[in-house]
Amino acid sequence: MKLRIFRFDPDRNDEPVEQEYEIDPALAGPMLLDALLYVREHLDASLALRRSCREGVCGSDGMNVNGVNVLACITPLAELSEPVMIRPLPGLPLIRDLVVDMEPLLRNYRAVHPWLEADVAPAERERLQTPAQRTALQAADECIQCGCCSSACPSFWWRPDEFAGPAALLAAWRFVADSRDVQTGPRLAGLAPGRRLFGCHGVMNCAAVCPKGLNPAAAIGTMKRWLLKSGQHR
Ligand code: SF4
Ligand code: SF4
Ligand code: FES
Repeated sequence: MKLRIFRFDPDRNDEPVEQEYEIDPALAGPMLLDALLYVREHLDASLALRRSCREGVCGSDGMNVNGVNVLACITPLAELSEPVMIRPLPGLPLIRDLVVDMEPLLRNYRAVHPWLEADVAPAERERLQTPAQRTALQAADECIQCGCCSSACPSFWWRPDEFAGPAALLAAWRFVADSRDVQTGPRLAGLAPGRRLFGCHGVMNCAAVCPKGLNPAAAIGTMKRWLLKSGQHR
């Protein structure tokens, strides 16, 4: 199987190149990450990539494969057409080969305060929820912050310093939707100015690429409606 991999080391190269490698899936393993690790272990030790869990949980091996952002560890080789074009996640600063700088994503993630802000007094027992209250945040809670969505979003490419991007906005929604959180109003108000939330133009690339099957655009749409209804964004 032919893999064509984007290679660029800013310390050594003037220009990026696409380097081709031939691997035998029977020797490498069933997933794209297996193939990349095979390349690194047996063909070219200089290939740089990130990975950790190998099972779609840590979110560290997002990359662009045949034009679509995916997690390499849960992408079966058998489903890919050849030559398999493998590039780093678009729209993020490149560090080397398939490794990008996640800081633009993390900066927006930190800015939405992705932690529960419950009553100040410590609860005597767990803060209970009804099944319906739990269901309201369940999908967003499954987000692994891999960044595949924000990296596929034209609005985020355009203004990562102004538009928070779908990954951070889904994290915001995770706590806006949480019945135990007491900061719903301030959280929404923090998203109201400028393009923080309203930079989304509903292109839906985020929902199309999410490897966990989540829909940041729907969460963004709900928060927009709430803000418009409350008159906080005009
Ligand atoms: S919404 Fe999906 S694509 Fe976006 S960061 Fe979360 S898991 Fe990744
Ligand atoms: S729906 Fe909004 S957040 Fe999702 S890709 Fe489109 S512009 Fe970006
Ligand atoms: S290696 Fe963790 S999500 Fe792929």
